[in-house]
Amino acid sequence: MKIALGADHGGFQLKEEIKAMLQSMDHEVVDMGCDCEQSVDYPDYALPVAEKVASGELDRGILICGTGIGMSIAANKVKGVRCALVHDLFSAKATREHNDSNVLAMGARVIGPGVAQEIVKIWLGTEFTGGRHSQRLEKIGNIEAKHV
Ligand code: RB5
Repeated sequence: MKIALGADHGGFQLKEEIKAMLQSMDHEVVDMGCDCEQSVDYPDYALPVAEKVASGELDRGILICGTGIGMSIAANKVKGVRCALVHDLFSAKATREHNDSNVLAMGARVIGPGVAQEIVKIWLGTEFTGGRHSQRLEKIGNIEAKHV
């Protein structure tokens, strides 16, 4: 899979660990920063990742900040992005099955690297269920169309 990664200073270290794991799993990783723990603004990293996924250039995106909250709010402003903030394994599976989430947000100050790695593995390995969930995604698309 082609996966965009983005983080602010709060998520930098965890991003590096997730990047190493994804590369060891033979995924193609596009690291869109940041590059160190110097303070930066998370929307500057959420936007390029969200745009790469929304355009279809890359398959999925993973965003990490201190809480994951700012990243998820910012990414969900981009049309076509369904960013899920996830800190547990159940939600990692459910958001793929029910929401077809294409971007994952996590908070490095909320969970440790072990849980984060398991979340990413489950999230990448779970398919969208479709069926009744498709009509709900259509309705989300309708909201996007109404609020351009
Ligand atoms: C940065 O201090 C922090 O606000 C950011 O990493 C994130 O938690 C925002 O939602």
